[in-house]
Amino acid sequence: MTMKNAAEKDLAGRVALITGGSKGIGKTIALTLARRGADIVICGRGASALETAAEEIRACGSTVHAHPLDATKLEGVRDFFRKVIEPIGRLDILVNNIGGVREVAKFPDLTDDDWYGIFDTNLMTMVRVTREALSYLTKSPYARIINIASVAGKQPGDWNPHYGAVKAAMIHLSKSLSRTLGPEHVRVNAICSSTIKGEGAWKRDVESRMRSGNVSFEEAERVLEAEVRAKAPLGEIGTPADVAELVAFLASNQACFITGTCIEVDGGTVRSIF
Ligand SMILES: NC(=O)c1ccc[n+]([C@@H]2O[C@H](COP(=O)([O-])OP(=O)(O)OC[C@H]3O[C@@H](n4cnc5c(N)ncnc54)[C@H](OP(=O)(O)O)[C@@H]3O)[C@@H](O)[C@H]2O)c1
Repeated sequence: MTMKNAAEKDLAGRVALITGGSKGIGKTIALTLARRGADIVICGRGASALETAAEEIRACGSTVHAHPLDATKLEGVRDFFRKVIEPIGRLDILVNNIGGVREVAKFPDLTDDDWYGIFDTNLMTMVRVTREALSYLTKSPYARIINIASVAGKQPGDWNPHYGAVKAAMIHLSKSLSRTLGPEHVRVNAICSSTIKGEGAWKRDVESRMRSGNVSFEEAERVLEAEVRAKAPLGEIGTPADVAELVAFLASNQACFITGTCIEVDGGTVRSIF
């Protein structure tokens, strides 16, 4: 093995759970950590997407456990840990990635169900999974919790105030956990990305604009791309790999003195200095 290969496999021997690792950004994170040598655990509700992702991860030469889970169900999360994590017997890296927003909306159009739903999918999935993971993470010498938030949690836009509020709550909880888990050497950080051009959320956003504007997919995508580019000083659009590379860095030994931070992957979109 060359020196370069040795560095690339720096996560060998570690077990990483990526929630929502069957699609989108989560799948790219799972593949990236697998290429760095980690054993991978992924979950999601849809069994067929999980199996497809598992095959791709296996092709990287990594061990993979893929198990269906609806993380909005408390008993489901407990059962997942009993059936999947307990037999593995360790967990070193937890990436809380489940989340997102289904349809764009402004405050007056959001119902109580919209608010409760988005809190359940984004924040409460993180709460339930993290709680179950703690007894394993606190025994790991390499423990990391990496929470996938969003620039929406730092810089409110005109749309989706419920999404921004819940992502802000995730950033707050990351900081809070970094304080309580610091003495146990568990590093906790959040990542705030701007709109990412990938499969899931990007495609849903384009399709929603296509329907509301009565335009073609290509036209809706062109307008979305122009909007996202205009917000970023770099004038570029992020990819799932941009997020995944940061996750891999935060999971590595090189990031062992970093905890309680929220790092933006946004081409400069967030304007605040804090
Ligand atoms: N895409 C963006 O532009 C963007 C920007 C900033 C931040 N983010 C954040 O990045 C994360 C990933 O976003 P994404 O765009 O990659 O989302 P995505 O393509 O919709 O994928 C979400 C993943 O989570 C799973 N999932 C959803 N609900 C679940 C539940 N209740 N229980 C278990 N698994 C569940 C999905 O599988 P099933 O559907 O089969 O359950 C899928 O694997 C989210 O937290 C999002 O807020 C995304």
